[in-house]
Amino acid sequence: MNTSIKISPSILACDFSKIGKEVEALEKAGADYIHVDVMDGHFVPNLTIGPDVIKKIRPFSKKIFDVHLMISPVDNYIEQFANAGADIITFHPEATKDTGATIELIKKFKKKVGISLKPKSEIDLIKDYMHKIDLILIMSVEPGFGGQKFMPEVLPKLKELKKIIDKQKYKIDLEIDGGINFENSKAAKNAGANILVSGSTIFNENNGDLEKNINLLREN
Ligand code: DX5
Ligand code: ZN
Repeated sequence: MNTSIKISPSILACDFSKIGKEVEALEKAGADYIHVDVMDGHFVPNLTIGPDVIKKIRPFSKKIFDVHLMISPVDNYIEQFANAGADIITFHPEATKDTGATIELIKKFKKKVGISLKPKSEIDLIKDYMHKIDLILIMSVEPGFGGQKFMPEVLPKLKELKKIIDKQKYKIDLEIDGGINFENSKAAKNAGANILVSGSTIFNENNGDLEKNINLLREN
């Protein structure tokens, strides 16, 4: 099994009437992380779940909760997501007045720090913080909805980040998120991603065979 690549299924694509059971099924199917998309209808034009739901689904899996905050403002919610059971808290630099302060706040609650770049957001937004963070989430769709088409134009940004990480020997995971499927997963990995987020492909392909779809993404 290709252990260098991690799969983080997005529960945005799951059956919201039974999220806990769906998280349990993802763990059984071999998911490495559980990707939780939090949307506030302000930073992005969609509304999903908050910390209370995360608290409720936490007991259903021991897997890392990879929480993607598409909310602004963000600082006043970090504590709630940390206490709800998030393991990685990823935010968008455009959602905060002070990226450094938000990083320190996440660290204060002993959580891993992720920063997410929208397709059109440049690396310069995060260059000065790379020595302090654990994960960079490269969006390959405009944040807000699952089931969108992969944007290959983000791959050069991924390659550039991989070069910087390797040169500076940073300990940063590169995660790609949005429209990942069996056709583009190899290009994403070759560009430097070591964590693939996927919602629609994992939940909808091969009659929803979660284990098969997770393995196909990891091995392809
Ligand atoms: C979009 C979310 C993604 C999305 C991925 O704003 O951040 O995580 O749910 O879903 P698919 O794989 O369907 O694009
Ligand atoms: Zn996401």
